[in-house]
Amino acid sequence: MKILVTGANGQLGREVVRQGKDHELVLTDYDTLDIANCKAVALFMREIKPQAVIHCAAYTNVDGAEKDEDGAFRVNVVGAQNIAAGCLETGARMVYVSTDYVFDGTKTEAYREFDQVNPQSVYGRTKWQGEELVRRILGRHYIVRTAWLYGDGNNFVRTMLRLAETNDTLRVVHDQVGTPTSTVDLAKAIFALLDSDAYGTYHATCQGQCSWYEFACEIFRQAGKKVKIIPVTTDEFPRPAKRPAHSVLDNYMLRMTVGDTTRPWQESIKEYIKR
Ligand SMILES: NC(=O)c1ccc[n+]([C@@H]2O[C@H](COP(=O)([O-])OP(=O)(O)OC[C@H]3O[C@@H](n4cnc5c(N)ncnc54)[C@H](OP(=O)(O)O)[C@@H]3O)[C@@H](O)[C@H]2O)c1
Repeated sequence: MKILVTGANGQLGREVVRQGKDHELVLTDYDTLDIANCKAVALFMREIKPQAVIHCAAYTNVDGAEKDEDGAFRVNVVGAQNIAAGCLETGARMVYVSTDYVFDGTKTEAYREFDQVNPQSVYGRTKWQGEELVRRILGRHYIVRTAWLYGDGNNFVRTMLRLAETNDTLRVVHDQVGTPTSTVDLAKAIFALLDSDAYGTYHATCQGQCSWYEFACEIFRQAGKKVKIIPVTTDEFPRPAKRPAHSVLDNYMLRMTVGDTTRPWQESIKEYIKR
């Protein structure tokens, strides 16, 4: 399949490239194609004529977005709209990657795909608006929500390991719960979906749940590092963007369609640290 990958240099983009070797991939990033440029996207897609787009490009700076709403909107909403319109014209199917931050985190059980959204941050809101435009423009879409992503790039795991080089003690939030997810598990789910005609909205995270504090403890356990970690509350560690307190996602639609091959989060993190 001829697949256009946007954000190919990002964490997920790199893993999609690694797993997509059997396909004809066309790779783009900000330098080669600004997804917010409507004309450039239309011309590029007309020329390339992809059969599918895996849309990994996004404005992912959650705190930065609070002060740069237009910037986040431009990439997450206008960018998604441009790609969806290009897909409509060229007949391509589209994977739009979204986030657990579309939910407010007040539900005590895991969120399913059709639970009520209520984003609490600019990032979450723009990703939701992007979802909605994709749904309206294009029938042949897969909207795939993930969470707490790590892969080849900047992420929580790398930050923790870097901080441990210079600190004996770290303070990590213990009252936000979610599921750390490896780009390896997510990319596998994306390719399984692309191989099917099961269009729609999906959750794709690893299995299980933990707080950021528990996540940090597991990272250091797996990496064999001795660091004292102090659990703190969100109030003690204020950030510009509000985060959901409980944003565990249930991969219900994956189980109901192509099958859910995601691993327990501890297993995926073990492989990542080894790598
Ligand atoms: N990271 C997480 O924890 C997380 C959690 C839930 C969902 N997600 C979603 O998962 C997807 C992949 O995230 P990720 O962690 O792989 O993100 P990432 O590493 O930040 O990569 C995003 C890529 O998009 C590119 N980009 C930004 N603006 C662009 C533009 N206008 N035109 C073209 N490319 C542009 C970036 O290029 P530059 O680096 O040059 O700006 C970067 O290569 C995103 O949709 C994100 O919203 C991520």
